[in-house]
Amino acid sequence: MSNLFPITRLRRLRQNKSLRRLFQETEFRLDNLILPIFVEEEVDDFVPITSMPGVNRIPERMLAREVERYARAGIKSVMTFGVSHHLDESGSDTWREDGLVARMARICKDAVPEMVVMSDTCFCEYTNHGHCGVAHNGDVDNDATLVNLARQAVVAAAAGADFIAPSAAMDGQVQAIRSALDAAGLNHTAIMAYSTKFASSLYGPFREAGGTVLKGDRRSYQMNPMNRREAVRESLLDEQEGADALMVKPAGAYLDVIADIRGVSRLPLAAYQVSGEYAMIKFAALAGAIDEEQVVRESIGAIKRAGADLILTYFAMDLARDGI
Ligand code: PBG
Ligand code: ZN
Repeated sequence: MSNLFPITRLRRLRQNKSLRRLFQETEFRLDNLILPIFVEEEVDDFVPITSMPGVNRIPERMLAREVERYARAGIKSVMTFGVSHHLDESGSDTWREDGLVARMARICKDAVPEMVVMSDTCFCEYTNHGHCGVAHNGDVDNDATLVNLARQAVVAAAAGADFIAPSAAMDGQVQAIRSALDAAGLNHTAIMAYSTKFASSLYGPFREAGGTVLKGDRRSYQMNPMNRREAVRESLLDEQEGADALMVKPAGAYLDVIADIRGVSRLPLAAYQVSGEYAMIKFAALAGAIDEEQVVRESIGAIKRAGADLILTYFAMDLARDGI
């Protein structure tokens, strides 16, 4: 064993660019990226998100034009997040047929029918306490929230959303949504489960982006970032409940979890490079510490290498512009 060298020389395959390309194991394509977008109602102009340089809230009335622009650039899918001006105790705007969730789905599909529209299905941007469901003594009532998730899902699907993406981290949410969709005759609407969603501090910039007003934290419903086995249990449960695709969120610091789930499930697996991951790369690049394009490619490539089929990333338009 000790004298493999000089016979074995791994540098033989790295000698020039053609060889390096020929032997490259991992590739990512624009087709597999999903662009998360923030849409604000009742405003006239784009609103820059200061903690995410380069990302803006889109005024609802500009949404159609924006989605057309993404499609022209080669983006195949968007995930919609609403910035609501109609907050209440339960987030009831989300299940109104003329509410922001429904309007976003309708506008996107009318503008570009072939765009795959994923509707983030939660309440934290629509509640006056900022929790992801029905609040009860500072905690969230799981089963009461399921009823509202089912309502919102049916409304979003009827408005044209191709995917319902429940991110509330309630137990049983996939099953509740699947049965409600089927009962409403919406059996073709798919579910992208936020199946392994950690209570991560990397969601910091999202709170500004989505205008959420939460004072506490979400640790009683989102997962403990230190739990690797439980992460697999969460995903396998969502598979049993009828999810069409699974997701790990955040992505970059959770590559072990992505690899674990890839190993035990045959469902398509997505990973969400979240707002804090975006901000860390962006601000480091703005400070001149790293090369932004190189680091973006490396981070997305690594998420793919770990086992993700699909990647949600705020860099999707930048990559589209670079012509990947
Ligand atoms: C809402 C939701 C969040 C994100 C996606 N959906 C915030 C949270 O759970 O606190 C985070 C996305 C990001 O940080 O980019 N449930
Ligand atoms: Zn939420």
